[in-house]
Amino acid sequence: MSEAGHRVVDAPSLLTAENLVVTYGAIEALHGVSLTVRKGEVVTLIGANGAGKTTTLKTIVGLLRPKYGRVIFDGVDVTGRPTHEIVGRGVALAPEGRGIFPDMTVLENLELGAYRQPDRIQFRRDLEQVCTLFPRVKERLKQRAGTLSGGEQQMVAIGRALMSRPSLLLLDEPSLGLAPLVTQTIFDALSELNRAGLTILLVEQNAHLALARSHRGYVLETGRLVMSGDANALAQDARVREAYLGQ
Ligand SMILES: Nc1ncnc2c1ncn2[C@@H]1O[C@H](COP(=O)(O)OP(=O)(O)OP(=O)(O)O)[C@@H](O)[C@H]1O
Ligand SMILES: [Mg+2]
Repeated sequence: MSEAGHRVVDAPSLLTAENLVVTYGAIEALHGVSLTVRKGEVVTLIGANGAGKTTTLKTIVGLLRPKYGRVIFDGVDVTGRPTHEIVGRGVALAPEGRGIFPDMTVLENLELGAYRQPDRIQFRRDLEQVCTLFPRVKERLKQRAGTLSGGEQQMVAIGRALMSRPSLLLLDEPSLGLAPLVTQTIFDALSELNRAGLTILLVEQNAHLALARSHRGYVLETGRLVMSGDANALAQDARVREAYLGQ
């Protein structure tokens, strides 16, 4: 992340979304969204409620099929491919609202993220990594996921995404509804993952925090990208400050 100070400006593109147009019935939610995430980057997508942030992430991972446009991941056109194939290629989504199964244990939730992993030894190794990243998750593996706090559930959602061994992690509002201290823990974990080589595309309402931890950012307004650039520059931009940073 920008704090780490490493240079990713010249890195090759890992994800390219080209001119995505996405509709829900008669409603056009994305009017031609194009964005790039380079290998090793943390990129934040900010925007108001209903701007199309979740729609963008869902389209990238194949949960929605664009009417026009393409999604290129790691040099391969994955537009319209089934989600399991896109996940298999190395994209994982920690969805908005976390998508935890409350009646299943934490371990069972994590196993769902690894359903394509036939190798038990690799599975144990991946599980160990998630537990090292989030010690709170380790302590609660046998507990029903629904009994966890919001922050712990978010850790499980991220952990589950990591269990599919992604090279690109998509996160939809990981800090939503969480106390500042827990949010900090989550963002510290994301920084650590990025330093270890994971590329991250983040959707956040908490623009200030997200931009502080990102290399670059995009601003989405009612289905259109209206601004993009270096994260520090965006955080300083008067329009961004007024619209998204409350200052
Ligand atoms: N299942 C759906 N059916 C119809 N319209 C939808 C559906 N999901 C989203 N929309 C509409 O598409 C637009 C973009 O929604 P989206 O959920 O992508 O926005 P968002 O930026 O993620 O918002 P939020 O900050 O509230 O999560 C909105 O106008 C929304 O009402
Ligand atoms: Mg959303």
